Formats: sequence, C-alpha cells, structure tokens
Amino acid sequence: MPSTLRRTLLQIVLAAAPVASAGCFITNDCYDEKTATYRIPEPPPMQLEMLVRACEADAAECFELCQTVFQENHPYQGAKDCEVRHDATGHDIEVTYEVATGASGCPVDGRRPAGLKRCLPRRRTLAGAQLARAAHFEAASVYAFVALARELARHGAPEHLIDAARRAALDEVTHAKLVGTLARARGAEPAPAVVAPPRRRSLEAIAIENAAEGLVGETWAALIAYWQSQHAPTAELRAAYAQIADDELRHAELAREVAAWAETRLPPAARRRVRLAQQKAVSRLARGVRRGAPAPLTDELGIPAPAHMQQLFADARAQLWT
Ligand SMILES: [Fe+2]
Ligand SMILES: [Fe+2]
Repeated sequence: MPSTLRRTLLQIVLAAAPVASAGCFITNDCYDEKTATYRIPEPPPMQLEMLVRACEADAAECFELCQTVFQENHPYQGAKDCEVRHDATGHDIEVTYEVATGASGCPVDGRRPAGLKRCLPRRRTLAGAQLARAAHFEAASVYAFVALARELARHGAPEHLIDAARRAALDEVTHAKLVGTLARARGAEPAPAVVAPPRRRSLEAIAIENAAEGLVGETWAALIAYWQSQHAPTAELRAAYAQIADDELRHAELAREVAAWAETRLPPAARRRVRLAQQKAVSRLARGVRRGAPAPLTDELGIPAPAHMQQLFADARAQLWT
C-alpha cells in the first residue's frame, strides 16, 4: 500500500506534469553550438559584485556569474559552459550555449542556413559534472547514515529506527555506484567523499541535522527523483531515478520517524530550535530553486525546468513543510 508521503510526492509531481507536456520537447533535437562574449568592468556593477568576487575566489563558482550575465541577453536559454578571465580593468566572460537546429520540429532561434550541420555531437560536460556532484553527495550520505545508526543506538532509539538507518546506508552505497556510473559515462569522475571522524553529539544536534537533511533535503531529493523518473530522456536514467526516488522516499520517512521520536525526548526550547532549523533549510532551498537549473540539465537529465521546479517547491512547501 502506498505510504501517505509517497502519495503526496506523486500528486505534487503529477500536478506539475500537465505544465511540462504543454511545451515543445527538444530532447531528441540536434544542436548548433555558439559562443557569446561579455566584458564586465572593474569595479563590477553592484548587482554582479558578489558573483564576480565568488568567481575570482574559486573558478568553480563562475558558472552562476556566466548564467546571470548570459540570461540578461538570452532570457529563454541556458549557458552550457563558460570561461572567465580576469585582468586589472575588468572580467572577460565567454559563454558556450546551444541552439536547437529544429530537427525535432520545435521552434528555432533565427534562420537556418543551408548546410547547417544537423547533429553536432553534444558535449556532456554540464550533465556529467552534475552527476559527478550527485555521486559525491550520495557517497557522503553513506557516512551520514552509518553515523545516524550509531547515534540513535547511543541515545536509546527504538531498534527499527537503527535498522532503517543501516539499510539507508546500504541504499546510498548503491546510489553512489549507480550515479557514479552515469557520471563516468559522460566523462566526469566523482570526487571521493572525505568525512571527518564523527563526534559524540547531543540529541538536539542530531534532530537539527535530521530536520534539515532529512525532512527537507531527502524529501526534496525524493520529489525531484520522482520527477526525473518520469521526465528523463532515456530509459536508463528513468529506471535509475525510479529506484533512487523509492529509496529516498524511505529515507524521508525515516527522517519523519526520527523527528517524531526525538520530539518526545527534547525540551520545548530545543524543539523550537529544531523547527527553526527546518524553516532555515526550506529558505535555503527556496534560494536554490529561484536560481534554477541550466537548460542542458533539463534536457539531458530530466531535472525540472525553472518553472516546474518552482511549482514543485511551492506545492512541497505548502503540503509538507508548513
Ligand atoms: Fe541517495
Ligand atoms: Fe538518501
């Protein structure tokens, strides 16, 4: 029998699905690769200052700057790749993006010349990088559940919660392998998860982590995986995300059970701090949702497009996190 949480998550995904089917799917289209260049003066305009500084400090942070600048000029497209060079007087940005050639029958940007190469091989860098990042966090989750099982035992939790945490650790081993394989198939190697040895923690600290990472994080992960199990472009990806979604759902349910058990053992002030931690996690998620995912991740992995992501988040917030 489907659990209440599973039913709720599937209803949220289905409620947003008609919006998805109204668009023109370009999953099987071919693409022409283009570049756009921009120069940001030094000092940068106020609205870009933080993004420029983050990019200067760490090249891995530059994509958000590129995406922001690019979308001011191409509001309906996503950047695929970018390079930023800094000098004393400014910052040169080169963005690579793709334009559908229209092989799918979807509208195209501009007028296609005769002899346009119909099917450029698509570079997989962004999807590969996203999968490698996901595989890294899946591997890190193994440590989280091993630690949770130990901590639950130390705090006298019921045996079925401890067993569920151990089983979740095994699920995450499977996810790390599964997603790591998908990443490597796209040329990206996941970074290994390196985790400091666990410290003894109070029940409140465990409950706070459970609220942010489980009640919010894994519930959102399950919801997005259910979406991807229906919208990813290949049967291999849809099957992988269907398995991950079912497992993440169990992890989200475990988080609810851990929360309910901890609540019976925490004083009122600690319970308030746990609720606050959950609200903060929802706010952090809201900021990420507002930024949205680049278009190639929607096309290549079935990650919800920004409008669908916002719809899913709004429904999840209203039904699960109020
Ligand atoms: Fe996972
Ligand atoms: Fe999980």
